[in-house]
Amino acid sequence: MVRIHWSGLLVSFCSLLSLSEAESCWRNTTCSGPTTSAFSGVWDKNIYAPTSRTVRPASTLSELKTNAITYSAKPATASLHGNGSLVVFDFGKEVGGIVHLDYTSTGSGALGLAFSEAKNWIGEWSDSSNSLWHDGALYANFSSSGTHTYDMPDQFLRGGFRYLTIFLVTDNSTNVDLKDISVELDFQPTWSNLRAYQGYFHCSDELLNRIWYSGAYTLQTNEVPVNTGRITSGLKSGWLNNGTLGPGDTIIVDGAKRDRAVWPGDMGIAVPSAFVSLGDLDSVKNALQIMYNTQASTGAFAESGPPLSQTGSDTYHMWSMIGTYNYVLYTNDTEFLQQNWNGYLAAMNYIYGKVTYSSGLLDVTGIRDWARWQQGYNNTEAQMILYRTLQTGSSLATWVGDTTNLSSTWTSRAAALKTAINTYCWDESYGAFKDNATDTTLHPQDANSMAILFGVVDSDRAAGISEKLLKNWTPIGAVAPELPENIASFISSFEIQSHFEVQRPDRALDLIRRSWGWYINNPNGTESTVIEGYLQNGTFGYRGSRGYYYDTSYVSHAHGWSSGPTSALTNYIVGLTVTSRLGETWSIAPQFGDLTHAEAGFTTSLGKFQASWVKNGNGYTLKFSVPKGTSGSLTLPSLRQDGCPQHRPGFFSFQEPQGLLPAPSSERRVLMSAPLSAELRAKYGVRSIPIRKDDEVTIVNGSNKGREGRITTVYRLKFCVHVERVVRDKSNGQSVPIPIHPSNVVISKLKLDKDREEILARKAKGREARKNKSA
Ligand SMILES: *[C@@H]1O[C@H](CO)[C@@H](O)[C@H](O)[C@H]1NC(C)=O
Ligand SMILES: *[C@@H]1O[C@H](CO)[C@@H](O)[C@H](O)[C@H]1NC(C)=O
Ligand SMILES: *[C@@H]1O[C@H](CO)[C@@H](O)[C@H](O)[C@H]1NC(C)=O
Ligand SMILES: *[C@@H]1O[C@H](CO)[C@@H](O)[C@H](O)[C@H]1NC(C)=O
Ligand SMILES: *[C@@H]1O[C@H](CO)[C@@H](O)[C@H](O)[C@H]1NC(C)=O
Ligand SMILES: *[C@@H]1O[C@H](CO)[C@@H](O)[C@H](O)[C@H]1NC(C)=O
Ligand SMILES: *[C@@H]1O[C@H](CO)[C@@H](O)[C@H](O)[C@H]1NC(C)=O
Ligand SMILES: *[C@@H]1O[C@H](CO)[C@@H](O)[C@H](O)[C@H]1NC(C)=O
Ligand SMILES: *[C@@H]1O[C@H](CO)[C@@H](O)[C@H](O)[C@H]1NC(C)=O
Ligand SMILES: *[C@@H]1O[C@H](CO)[C@@H](O)[C@H](O)[C@H]1NC(C)=O
Ligand SMILES: *[C@@H]1O[C@H](CO)[C@@H](O)[C@H](O)[C@H]1NC(C)=O
Ligand SMILES: *[C@@H]1O[C@H](CO)[C@@H](O)[C@H](O)[C@H]1NC(C)=O
Repeated sequence: MVRIHWSGLLVSFCSLLSLSEAESCWRNTTCSGPTTSAFSGVWDKNIYAPTSRTVRPASTLSELKTNAITYSAKPATASLHGNGSLVVFDFGKEVGGIVHLDYTSTGSGALGLAFSEAKNWIGEWSDSSNSLWHDGALYANFSSSGTHTYDMPDQFLRGGFRYLTIFLVTDNSTNVDLKDISVELDFQPTWSNLRAYQGYFHCSDELLNRIWYSGAYTLQTNEVPVNTGRITSGLKSGWLNNGTLGPGDTIIVDGAKRDRAVWPGDMGIAVPSAFVSLGDLDSVKNALQIMYNTQASTGAFAESGPPLSQTGSDTYHMWSMIGTYNYVLYTNDTEFLQQNWNGYLAAMNYIYGKVTYSSGLLDVTGIRDWARWQQGYNNTEAQMILYRTLQTGSSLATWVGDTTNLSSTWTSRAAALKTAINTYCWDESYGAFKDNATDTTLHPQDANSMAILFGVVDSDRAAGISEKLLKNWTPIGAVAPELPENIASFISSFEIQSHFEVQRPDRALDLIRRSWGWYINNPNGTESTVIEGYLQNGTFGYRGSRGYYYDTSYVSHAHGWSSGPTSALTNYIVGLTVTSRLGETWSIAPQFGDLTHAEAGFTTSLGKFQASWVKNGNGYTLKFSVPKGTSGSLTLPSLRQDGCPQHRPGFFSFQEPQGLLPAPSSERRVLMSAPLSAELRAKYGVRSIPIRKDDEVTIVNGSNKGREGRITTVYRLKFCVHVERVVRDKSNGQSVPIPIHPSNVVISKLKLDKDREEILARKAKGREARKNKSA
């Protein structure tokens, strides 16, 4: 064999796209996706999706030296010399689809093609997508010298990989020149422009930005053509991805490589994240429809869609029901709801029929679940999911126009269940939920996170649980006690939301950074997607002991159920959420954490929703824009650790008058404002102004009503001010300022400077302009 020098270069090969490849949908699929992004900006650089459906390797892997030469001047090419020579192409990120090769040979032989998502399984065997211990390779056989092409047969589509190893098998000294290697991406088949995101996120922490976009890109790779499902039955070796997944042109599955099947539980995390990022809900509709189409006569939904078609899971049954709510919330597809309403009712009767414990708890008999070890009887996680099912069912009943009192019935059942859960599943001595109503020492991550997120607990219990959850943390993520040693990014996706729910952005961001940050920065991974799960010892061997045959290469590295940070950063850090169908009502409730800036937007058929905030010297400035005719509430965070009171919810809430938005004037400074005295109002034509040190005020409410004084301190973050001489005496004789909420004072004298005069002038002008407009 001839050993020839290896160039070892990491060469960027992105410049050679021909125009004809630039934008197209998958094969003959009708293009129905958006063609342009809804929000363009600097954040576009964080989108992992390529501009073209045809992609070529970004580089070759320099670590592996074999008898091949790559020509750095000619991208995606290599010469292979003799048996066993091998070259590894790195696409630089997760890709998936059909591989095409153009090559010439000097004799006969075969080119082997092997795939891997992670660096760890590069070689002449692909990583595993079929629980058969590595998938082997595909071969492009050639029987003579000359020019050849290879088109991967459709049924061997490889749904997810970053590395493609090409190796030569020949019995003599045949040389092969690889002239072109390309992948026809299969995912998001109805989109001609894979970068046309309908949502965005951007903040001051680049790591969080990458994590948000890795979740979004993962979801893209999970929205696949409906005839590319994984087939496992009867397979002896290799893989087969030509199964029928469901109706329509596009459908959301659990993972790019595997399982390539609809999994409703996964959708509990994946769909809210897809909504705030991609905005593609067609694939969600088709995924739900197949669950209705395959519903059993008992009313039970399958655990997964075909061709996998696993059954016997009460929790995943309920996730199909919650999924129905999420889909209708984001789309208001009432026709879909009406068409499937009988199925939904049967599903509700099926599951509620299992509430047979005299305690009022659900008796779980379909015991399959996300991978936790124990499920069944009165398992607490399942109770939490039933609570959410009843709550969301109540909204669906209203939306479908039910006239049989179902909405109230289900709400009152939810209330009764909540009481039962708090009575029987709570471990008072520990301060968190136990795994079931029977005594146990296990306090699961799933049930406890969901208890907060779904609103099953009061705020005291919620705060306590949030703290207890920290006990599961390791430097690289939270280990689920219900699946020991494992870091389940699916369940951690619920946990981060629960910390946000109790106003602990510090904890949520910490967990996002240590867990998702660990993966996105791990050079062995895809550096572009979110992984299914991993082990606390930092290996990719998620649930090896729980059905994955210790086959660490079987783990999916592009799994939508782990995309929780994508929705969480939008919904809690920027704080932008829809609170009714299509965002007819919405909420903005930002949480700042340690960030200095964050913004996000998403789209429904009503229009664009967008909010941003930036930290400035002494506070935060918030801007937002929402579609005309919608209304919502604005809630600002409160900090309780200090002496300042929590601001009353509602104080910062307001209804936007119709017709005002969206407009540039929708920009708003939501600093701590206080009203001006009648005299000052008359003088400046301004009603209120952000309060400042050295303003003089009169306290108009509360026990200090009537007192006057100069502002000595403004705690913008804490929503309180201190007024000179308004103090209380401590037992040690010292006096401490009494915190006063700015809504309780009236400014009687303004500390004037140039800035202040400009603000007054601008505000007066704005007021005048509005007056003229409405006149
Ligand atoms: C696309 O082509 C496949 C065969 O390759 C065919 O089964 C399918 O019906 C076609 N779809 C459309 C929308 O034309
Ligand atoms: C071996 O290589 C020669 C040319 O190099 C070719 O003519 C011959 O067919 C090859 N033999 C086989 C078995 O491929
Ligand atoms: C193609 O080549 C591979 C590797 O030599 C071999 O295992 C396989 O049987 C060949 N396939 C055909 C159809 O000749
Ligand atoms: C070709 O290389 C493979 C390993 O890559 C080896 O198994 C096989 O025996 C080799 N064949 C010949 C003819 O050397
Ligand atoms: C999938 O491919 C296999 C192997 O080529 C074939 O036998 C099978 O009929 C195909 N299935 C479908 C649904 O097309
Ligand atoms: C929980 O389930 C166990 C096992 O079926 C049962 O013995 C116990 O009574 C149940 N507890 C409650 C509160 O329902
Ligand atoms: C509707 O359901 C609620 C809750 O179950 C119940 O209190 C109320 O009586 C019901 N109303 C009618 C008209 O049935
Ligand atoms: C309760 O939970 C513990 C911990 O998961 C488990 O070992 C036990 O079997 C469960 N008991 C019942 C009745 O479900
Ligand atoms: C990457 O994988 C290699 C080989 O398994 C291992 O030695 C290395 O520690 C891994 N790196 C990280 C960051 O996990
Ligand atoms: C990681 O943990 C798994 C499960 O306990 C074990 O099988 C594996 O050997 C460990 N790997 C390392 C590198 O510690
Ligand atoms: C949602 O659809 C229903 C039924 O078509 C309609 O009455 C309602 O106004 C729609 N809501 C929004 C926000 O568009
Ligand atoms: C304080 O008193 C003023 C004037 O009486 C009133 O408008 C305002 O709503 C009160 N604020 C609070 C927080 O009670």
